[in-house]
Amino acid sequence: MVVANRKMHGSIPANQLFLRELLAQTRDFKNADYVVCVPHPYLYQVQAMLSGSHIAWGDQHMSRFTLGAHTGSVSASMLLEFGCQYTIIGHSERRAWGYETDITSAQRYETAIRAGLKPIYCVGDTRDEYMAGETHKVTYKQLSAIVEHVGVEGLAKGVLAYEPVWAIGTGQAATPEHVQSILGYLRSQIAALDAKLGAEIRILYGGSVNAKNVLQLFCMPDVDGALVGAASLNKEQFIAICKAANEATDDRCALLVADD
Ligand code: PGA
Repeated sequence: MVVANRKMHGSIPANQLFLRELLAQTRDFKNADYVVCVPHPYLYQVQAMLSGSHIAWGDQHMSRFTLGAHTGSVSASMLLEFGCQYTIIGHSERRAWGYETDITSAQRYETAIRAGLKPIYCVGDTRDEYMAGETHKVTYKQLSAIVEHVGVEGLAKGVLAYEPVWAIGTGQAATPEHVQSILGYLRSQIAALDAKLGAEIRILYGGSVNAKNVLQLFCMPDVDGALVGAASLNKEQFIAICKAANEATDDRCALLVADD
């Protein structure tokens, strides 16, 4: 699975060029799911251009409330009207500004799944937490907030993304080995709650994924895909990442190991 997190980027003409090219160049990629998450004003355009295609779309921050006096907010039912299937929840950029906590993330997550949207729930450690050896503790706490709120059944309705804060937007992705160790850890914690979900839940990695490092990441056994920020703003890079997802078969990955 490849998810573009376009953050606060784009314009109507630039989106049009990007989406047109993405549609044309990924038409034959059948081995992965592709999702584009855009700012709210562009959802109408994305729906118009991607409806009926192999590419799904979503937003990056929906309200935890269903409706009412919440100036500036966008509800799950509004996202559904624009054909969204996904919503990003708990991104570290929102957590860092204090707009998002484990509790508000869990409430948002519940609102999303009740509406039938698939949350892409982000967990991740800061550099200080990483240096202090607290990655497991921090990511487990963030994951537990969801499980405590919506149970294992709720967790099963979303996608998990490990995004170390120190790797986001820095050009310094975590090593494939580090990513594998954390995703393997998270999967084992989920498996301890529900073995089937542990095996089936999709866990993505995000943080400076680019066309060069992506295949090695995808070939790690517990990596099910990528959440891509900066590289999703460049259509050639992003299409190359989509291509890697399509080609990261067991045979291709075995060749990669042989190349090493
Ligand atoms: P990046 O962002 O790919 O630019 O590091 C990833 C993200 O924040 O989701």
